[in-house]
Amino acid sequence: MQETVIQRERDFGTPARISATQITLTIDGRPVTVPEGTSLMRAAAEAGINIPRLCATDSLESFGSCRLCLVQIEGRRGYPASCTTPVENGMVVSTETPKLQDLRRGVMELYISDHPLDCLTCPANGDCELQDMAGVVGLRNVRYGHDGAHHLDDAADTSNPYFTYDPSKCIVCSRCVRACDDIQGTFALTVSGKGFDSRVVAGQGVSFLDSDCVSCGACVQACPTSSLQENTVISMGQPEHAVITTCAYCGVGCGFRAEMKGDKVVRMVPWKDGKANEGHSCVKGRFAWGYATHKDRITSPMIRASIDDPWREVSWEEALSYAASELRRIQAEHGRGAIGGITSSRCTNEETYLVQKLVRAAFSNNNVDTCARVCHSPTGYGLGQTYGTSAGTQTFKSVDQSDVVLVIGANPTDAHPVFGSRLKQRLRAGARLIVIDPRSIDLVKSPHVRAEHHLQLRPGTNVAVLNALAHVIVTEGLADHDFVADRCDDRSFTDWLGFIRLSENSPEATAAVSGVPAGVLRGAARLYATGKSDGKATDLANGRPNAAIYYGLGVTEHAQGSTAVMAIANLAMLTGNIGREGVGVNPLRGQNNVQGSCDMGSFPHELPGYRHISDSTVRGEFEQAWGVTLDPEPGLRLPNMFDAAIAGSFRGLYCQGEDIVQSDPDSQHVAQALMAMECIIVQDIFLNETARYAHVFLPGSSFLEKDGTFTNAERRLSRVRKVMAPLAGYADWEVTMMLANALGLPMHYTHPSEIMDEIAALTPTFRGVSFEKIERLGSVQWPCNEDTPEAGLETMHADRFVRGKGRFLITKYVPSEERATRKFPLLLTTGRILSQYNVGAQTRRTDNNAWHPEDRLEIHPADAEDRGIRDGAQVSVSSRAGTTVLRALVSERMQPGVVYTTFHFPESGANVITTDSSDWATNCPEYKVTAVQVAPVAGPSPWQRDYARFRDMQQELAEQARARAVVEE
Ligand code: SF4
Ligand code: SF4
Ligand code: SF4
Ligand code: FES
Repeated sequence: MQETVIQRERDFGTPARISATQITLTIDGRPVTVPEGTSLMRAAAEAGINIPRLCATDSLESFGSCRLCLVQIEGRRGYPASCTTPVENGMVVSTETPKLQDLRRGVMELYISDHPLDCLTCPANGDCELQDMAGVVGLRNVRYGHDGAHHLDDAADTSNPYFTYDPSKCIVCSRCVRACDDIQGTFALTVSGKGFDSRVVAGQGVSFLDSDCVSCGACVQACPTSSLQENTVISMGQPEHAVITTCAYCGVGCGFRAEMKGDKVVRMVPWKDGKANEGHSCVKGRFAWGYATHKDRITSPMIRASIDDPWREVSWEEALSYAASELRRIQAEHGRGAIGGITSSRCTNEETYLVQKLVRAAFSNNNVDTCARVCHSPTGYGLGQTYGTSAGTQTFKSVDQSDVVLVIGANPTDAHPVFGSRLKQRLRAGARLIVIDPRSIDLVKSPHVRAEHHLQLRPGTNVAVLNALAHVIVTEGLADHDFVADRCDDRSFTDWLGFIRLSENSPEATAAVSGVPAGVLRGAARLYATGKSDGKATDLANGRPNAAIYYGLGVTEHAQGSTAVMAIANLAMLTGNIGREGVGVNPLRGQNNVQGSCDMGSFPHELPGYRHISDSTVRGEFEQAWGVTLDPEPGLRLPNMFDAAIAGSFRGLYCQGEDIVQSDPDSQHVAQALMAMECIIVQDIFLNETARYAHVFLPGSSFLEKDGTFTNAERRLSRVRKVMAPLAGYADWEVTMMLANALGLPMHYTHPSEIMDEIAALTPTFRGVSFEKIERLGSVQWPCNEDTPEAGLETMHADRFVRGKGRFLITKYVPSEERATRKFPLLLTTGRILSQYNVGAQTRRTDNNAWHPEDRLEIHPADAEDRGIRDGAQVSVSSRAGTTVLRALVSERMQPGVVYTTFHFPESGANVITTDSSDWATNCPEYKVTAVQVAPVAGPSPWQRDYARFRDMQQELAEQARARAVVEE
């Protein structure tokens, strides 16, 4: 997957068509057969004949404006554009005649007469379709010169930190406008003016940065000239070779071509063959990769006896042997269970597998957990109980077949942007939308997209609303009883039916707690079940719509997170929306490899493949392969580790690629736990918030520095490929391996492919996975074994549920104990924003700060006015856990009584406020409901002052280590 000489991905000019009807025609004497609806341009390209073109590209529907792609068709007058002319049976087409060549040269002459003739110094030299076409049509001179009116002096717009718009190079092909509209769905660009005056403008003629542009890069990708160009290409020149890899930000798992010059990344270009993204990207994957070589990277191992001591840079051998001896000392003094490990959902499957293996086989306990504890663990439990597996049921592409989409507790345009764009494409094509969210997220109302129903519920009432939806479907006779009878467990359904019919679950009864009017809820239920907001049982005679549910952390991060997941599963079974394209239950996974970290056995009770540690048969297989005896008892979950640390029984932690101080709830409690421990080993690329409490720092490697695989929210395993040597000398999997060896557990892998071979041998759902297969097929989806197609299973539960019969579970609504009181009258909910990512360790070290330089507290105008709060003013946010200070953002997006913030900046301390309230089944924290009071203030909170002091002290201790190392060198 590495090209020694860079090649552009093949462009067929217009999109592929799918049709059962095949059309045969002749192009330049060659017989060609293609699906009906294919353009002449594409048919020719598939036969190896490239017709000159400028305004066409195969990621966009053709537009027919440049007139370069003219052809001659026997028996027809004139010269039609091949990009807009569909094939017909028996057509005889010529693409190269003297007349056509003449016409094309004339067109090109006009373009070139208003284009700077600076090809040799242009950043796109060698990667410019205008330049290529001039050569293809044989343009040698231009009759019109540059003396007349032209645009050559138009000023460039450099406001976007990642790309430049140079209108002097624009040929007004509108590819950028169409990419922004049709692919991204932002509608930020237009062509203003007519004829000679027509120009591409952002917004109403503002700069790119001030417009609605979200910097996805689709327009830059589509531009055939250097008019829209990446700044890195302008500064570094054209790349020389490319490697296919996978984005390391979110669970969409977009494929990218890392285009390189030597070992430096010039640009990341979304990969057309990437199955999760099909050539699209968002600002993070496309542009925010500069953190990987940021000056803050720590590249030397460091140790210290106490967190008040300066760090000391040491060799890898010394750091690892110190870490190993400390862990063994703690176990000797405090018992086998006094230490544990945390796997990273940012690291590869192979790395995660090794960390849990290290804990189970070298620490000899099961004290391993992962960040999924604080995000999608309720998905694991809820879907596991109802369907038999935690996996999302569909591919992203499946939404193209949906008639109705229900989005609950998710904000795809910010948190899963490439899926968000795909969803918006489907909605613009006619699918209907229901949004269940306390906030007016973008999907509720954005250009050409409107939610038919927005159920603006109060935080913490998901279960009441989901039950009410099911109640309406049951009581109005809209359930799919054939599906239920055929595919679901009778007894559980009968019990559940009795429960859901209760009047306490009616929309009229739940409206009081959820705040969702009964009429709105009934409309949404009817739409989900029948495809119409006023649908009746009789409407179902002609079939049912494909209705899909997409959900996120707004469902899971609640005291009833697992209950809500089960309620979603019930709803899909009740309406038969499981087991085919266009339907399903789709958890939108947060981090790039959170699916993989769960699959790889990161939970304390489960071995890889979600098999319980108490199962002696399964345990026996691992014991034989690893040559150790495993503890049959589940280990400690993350919050239990913290509690045990404070109680004194848990004293050592190996934490790979997670920043628990910033990401876990009740930060002060987490910090207290870490301070109580004797040896904390942090492996990370930066000295993150958690590392400030560490005794051993092992430098980590970014996704550009290692080989491995990530698994996205579709269960798709894609390759991560090393494009540069690890800055600190070792990839993360090698560091874990060295630590294992230092602890006396032999590990001798020479490549991550060997680790995957071990995973496949020990995990039935991965039996057919190998690096060789991923290399060959591009990606595979688990389950991938002898029972599935070669590339794995696209749609889960097609004929039967993984557990056999689907199980309905009773989902009684229980109000959260975290509720508004006189002291804390508002409910705080948290979330992410497009340009930043989680704890922000990566995105804060990029120019993405141009869009979101700080966390703000969104508050409804009425709540703001009650408290005398102006937009932009500093406000304190206090809960029973703590107080922090942010700037207010007065916004109609909020409902009265509810406030919202992101958590990307450590100094804003969103998790100082969140409490220890958590999901009853999994301990997933209730981040989405915290009772708070908000008031105007003049300065930082006491916590923020302490935080700043501690941060500065730790920074100083790290800088001293560097200075001492330089002197010693
Ligand atoms: S970067 Fe994306 S959002 Fe911005 S103008 Fe281009 S296509 Fe539109
Ligand atoms: S900026 Fe590029 S893509 Fe957009 S109209 Fe101009 S030449 Fe075409
Ligand atoms: S959508 Fe997610 S995976 Fe895709 S480029 Fe953006 S952050 Fe990366
Ligand atoms: S490529 Fe067909 S008209 Fe431009």
